[in-house]
Amino acid sequence: MTTLNIYEDSKPDVAVVSTSDPAEIGERLSAVGVQFERWKAEVELPENATQEQVIAAYKAEVDRLSAAAGYQTVDVIRITPDNPNKDALRAKFLDEHIHDEDEVRFFVEGSGAFYLHLDDKVYQVVCTRDDLLSVPAGTLHWFDMGPEPRFTCIRLFVTPDGWVAKFTGDKISASIPRFGEQAAA
Ligand SMILES: [Fe+2]
Repeated sequence: MTTLNIYEDSKPDVAVVSTSDPAEIGERLSAVGVQFERWKAEVELPENATQEQVIAAYKAEVDRLSAAAGYQTVDVIRITPDNPNKDALRAKFLDEHIHDEDEVRFFVEGSGAFYLHLDDKVYQVVCTRDDLLSVPAGTLHWFDMGPEPRFTCIRLFVTPDGWVAKFTGDKISASIPRFGEQAAA
């Protein structure tokens, strides 16, 4: 289920806002300049669909977004719990960082959590199937795929080479509840 939890960065033990209403999530994110949409596939995708099949299923939305924001390339990433590198993959973007370009992800299946550090708040957006989230360039954020990662995402880039994480060194991500560990408790 798609959820938004908002924490105060100085008091991260309890969320000040918690909602699973997609309309409210979209409104609250839009209010802070973050794009959130829900897309429906035009065709039902087969299990283990190829990258080409996934992109074709969402072609209209991908083309619309690319034209509006100048994205040049598109790919598909799939991670499952049997990945032998899952711990390293999870750790890679688990500390606060920024990119010089937007981080744009559409969830075809599975889930993952984005954390956006905006002023004195942290927005945890748990994305699930049909969710599009665009983290604007320069936004402090991190991503948690959880201890048992399972997701397929379409990624849109202006220049894949430019999509490099610059870490802030701030350890705030360790103080906000991790994804997949709250629910398991
Ligand atoms: Fe990132």
